[in-house]
Amino acid sequence: MKTSPLICHRGASALAPENTMEAFELARQQGQHWLEMDVCMSADGEAVIFHDDILRRCTDGSGWLVNNSLAELQQLDAGSWFSPQYAGARIPTLIEVLEWAAISGMCLNLEIKPVLGREYETASAISRALEWAFEHTPLATRQLLFSSFNPLSLALAQQHHKDIERAWLTDAIAADALERIKPLECEGLHFCAELVDPAAIAKLKSSGLQVRCFTVNSAIQAQELFELGVDAIFSDFPTLLDHPAD
Ligand code: G3P
Ligand code: MG
Repeated sequence: MKTSPLICHRGASALAPENTMEAFELARQQGQHWLEMDVCMSADGEAVIFHDDILRRCTDGSGWLVNNSLAELQQLDAGSWFSPQYAGARIPTLIEVLEWAAISGMCLNLEIKPVLGREYETASAISRALEWAFEHTPLATRQLLFSSFNPLSLALAQQHHKDIERAWLTDAIAADALERIKPLECEGLHFCAELVDPAAIAKLKSSGLQVRCFTVNSAIQAQELFELGVDAIFSDFPTLLDHPAD
């Protein structure tokens, strides 16, 4: 699938606390259509949006996220660490974000980030949220793209929601990337900007894959990647491509 050339990484995460509704809504207000966000699971099996395994960096809590129930997670302040202006921002549930996407028309790259060993439970939590949203809202599969560093999570996504496209997430592009991607029927590959490999990008592009690159916060770097054939970048700055290369 074609995304927009800029995908807001964890929402407008340079301007608002990452992976919160505030960061997602700000990206929308700044004219963006595609957001990336990290999906994990609470102790009681609810899919929630958060990047780290540990709560400390982005909330006033501590310890492992996966050891907390949804009710406990929703008590946490996920905004003050970023700025007092965002005090009281909460960890969103996947259902909440899907409802918002259904109403706003925003498109979501759901990066599946299970705690290792909880891949099956995380896949089930995500499926429950999606099934609820498809039944109760006008959310369309074309608004969604799965990705994961975890091949089992991609395989489970393929099994549960074959009609939602998938992308393989990696740091460096492996020499056998095409062979690895094939059984998972991925439409694309997302790789780390610092590990750019022009020949590998050319090979993926000639196979018809979408190639997207994280995390790019320089307009010059974005331009160089586009010239190599990269289809989209993930950026913390929603308006990065609106200005001439800096
Ligand atoms: O999905 C692209 C990027 O978000 C992957 O790395 O650690 O920022 O989730 P990370
Ligand atoms: Mg991510």
